[in-house]
Amino acid sequence: MRNIILGLVGVGRIGVMHANNISALNGILHPRGLNIHLRLTDVATDHAQKTAADLGAEYLPSVGELIASGVDGLVIATGTATHPDLIRAGVDAGIPVFCEKPVALNVTDSLPVVDYIKQNNGVVQIGHQRRFDDGYLEAKRAYQSGELGWIHSLRAVTCDMTPPPVEFLATSGGLFRDCSVHDFDILRWLTGREIVEVYAKGSNNGDQAIGDVGDVDTALAVVTFDDGTVGTVSASRYNGAGHDVRLEIQGSRRSLMVGLDEHSALTSAEAATDFPAGEPHRTFAERFNQAYRSEMAAFVELILGERENPCPPEDAVAASRVADAAQESLVTGAPVKVDLGSSR
Ligand SMILES: NC(=O)c1ccc[n+]([C@@H]2O[C@H](COP(=O)([O-])OP(=O)(O)OC[C@H]3O[C@@H](n4cnc5c(N)ncnc54)[C@H](O)[C@@H]3O)[C@@H](O)[C@H]2O)c1
Repeated sequence: MRNIILGLVGVGRIGVMHANNISALNGILHPRGLNIHLRLTDVATDHAQKTAADLGAEYLPSVGELIASGVDGLVIATGTATHPDLIRAGVDAGIPVFCEKPVALNVTDSLPVVDYIKQNNGVVQIGHQRRFDDGYLEAKRAYQSGELGWIHSLRAVTCDMTPPPVEFLATSGGLFRDCSVHDFDILRWLTGREIVEVYAKGSNNGDQAIGDVGDVDTALAVVTFDDGTVGTVSASRYNGAGHDVRLEIQGSRRSLMVGLDEHSALTSAEAATDFPAGEPHRTFAERFNQAYRSEMAAFVELILGERENPCPPEDAVAASRVADAAQESLVTGAPVKVDLGSSR
């Protein structure tokens, strides 16, 4: 039996979910001869100690002690501003790193981190979990096999039920960088194409405090791909019907939609239609439960050298470049060419 020790930094909203998933991995990977151990830390000491006790994990008082304890991989689930330093710490220790998206608060801050990783032969997987979602995987297969015909339209949707706290929004970089960045990543990953131009509009019809911190509660971006195909990426913080994440791909032969199932946060306007019959998802954790678990299993395989990096930092930065262009377009009111950069 081989022991794999994962060190988790940050047990806030998403960190607790990763902690639970890492604990659950043990049951899944045991038949493969692997024992997964979790060690964790957080500056919120009491909360971290309690989380560790609840999960039978080991608590360490600091990131330094966590790394020095001899972990096989570092999982970073702290706020975005801390990502660059923590990624560097993991790379310096010579261990593979999983870091929640994004690499840093903006593209400018991300580029030196990407260079540092390259120069030091670091292995860093970024947390774009949709790449592991069964629906998006099937859409990618169908798109790339050509069975949909030529694609005339792509429409991506990401809607939260309620906004996060305004204090969070004030430092999030805006709706496109915080939320739609997942759609920008998945569109690049799925199509294998670059988004070259973005034209964005937004609105503020909910809590005006969101506008006061310079953000919008709802936005839509028209994106143009490098082959001329067009698509839309829309997002809202006020989707009372449920957490709604979908992607519609329409082709000359066939069309399909990711996220159209019994839990879709939509009802039909047509009479005598009882679809969807299930309860809508309420949060990202519910919607992507399977994807987050598969993502962490993939990180273990990356540590073991059994797979390619499923989400390298260069890809995450490329998605952030599109988000930056969308944010600029929102502010200027004009279409913006995406800076495709040279670090890819
Ligand atoms: N992939 C996704 O779907 C997804 C969803 C939500 C959040 N995120 C990302 O995850 C990250 C965390 O978001 P969140 O909503 O969980 O934030 P959060 O504020 O709820 O949690 C962050 C935790 O990190 C701890 N922390 C902060 N600095 C630390 C440090 N230097 N050392 C140790 N602990 C520290 C805080 O005490 C807190 O418990 C963000 O970068 C966010 O963009 C990704």
